[in-house]
Amino acid sequence: MTEPAPPAGVLHRWASFLPLTPATPRISLGEGSTPLVRAAHIAGDCGLDELWFKLESCNPTGSFKDRGMVVAVAKALESGAKAIMCASTGNTSASAAAYAAHCGIACFVLVPGGKVAAGKMAQAIAFGARIIEVSGNFDAALNAARELTAKHPVALVNSVNPDRIAGQKTAAFEICEALGDAPNFLAIPVGNAGNITAYWKGFGECAELGRATLHPRMFGFQAAGAAPIVNNAPVADPHTVATAIRIGNPASWKQAVAARDESSGAIEAVTDEEILEAYALLARREGLFVEPASAASVAGLLKLARAGRTHGGCAVAVLTGNGLKDPDTALAQYAPDVTKADATVESVERALGW
Ligand code: F0G
Repeated sequence: MTEPAPPAGVLHRWASFLPLTPATPRISLGEGSTPLVRAAHIAGDCGLDELWFKLESCNPTGSFKDRGMVVAVAKALESGAKAIMCASTGNTSASAAAYAAHCGIACFVLVPGGKVAAGKMAQAIAFGARIIEVSGNFDAALNAARELTAKHPVALVNSVNPDRIAGQKTAAFEICEALGDAPNFLAIPVGNAGNITAYWKGFGECAELGRATLHPRMFGFQAAGAAPIVNNAPVADPHTVATAIRIGNPASWKQAVAARDESSGAIEAVTDEEILEAYALLARREGLFVEPASAASVAGLLKLARAGRTHGGCAVAVLTGNGLKDPDTALAQYAPDVTKADATVESVERALGW
């Protein structure tokens, strides 16, 4: 008989690094422990010796949000909450709805009307969340969620909740463990700026604890139409094909700037064209189908390389969400190469021109 595998999930695996007490319920949907996969083809295009992808798309709801959500929901349960709320561009709401269903509590999500990718809406609906489509953008929805949760007995599970950041920092621990050290660079999309904040915290803790000798330079990428940190001014009406990062006034703005400056990194903008180029490159040359926001990390590396600003070394690009979340962008992006045929050898041969 082999030993049974240890229980899965972030709360089990990283318990001593998280704000848990004996009373925190050890819930899990099997989040975390995502693959770190080496680029097969495009490291050179990015001006790097080594490029790795952290496949956060492999989390149970298909995005990195699950790592932080499991901590936030466990802590909410510990404090006696019977309901959670978030504002979301789609992934946070999918994740919150899943953990709420798992734990038998209510979930209220505020989403910007008409701007959430179809797969993410499908998830919130399937998990039984109460969905409110607001007429404003994400930033307005987050303001409303903050006020509502201050007024009503409902826990706020956006990344302004420090338990979310605590959970998300565990991705940095996993990267250091897999590589044996921190990478030279981390490339990451930036929306509300919680994730870049969490990774920087995680890498800092790795260095303090002797789990890494390096601090990576943090390269954050915003969409050009939603680039408040790059422009040093909030964007009233953000727009981008990468709807996940369609955010004009990030809640963790200051922390993202600190991560950038303390790490000698950069936060820069990539255009929708550059995002879609990287999106196609990841799919066609690496076999990785990610959502547009995730491709911003690779779009940024390609941009730096073209400007002669990368000179070898090892980078990790965080692929934050699964391509299946946004089928409409995928279908709009490609001219599908589909030929009809009968299910016979002759007919298929004719279709293939053999
Ligand atoms: N990538 C994806 C796929 C996202 O869903 C998000 C954020 C980000 C990157 C940016 O991360 O906000 O921590 O800087 N999505 C949030 C949501 C805003 O509501 O799902 P961030």
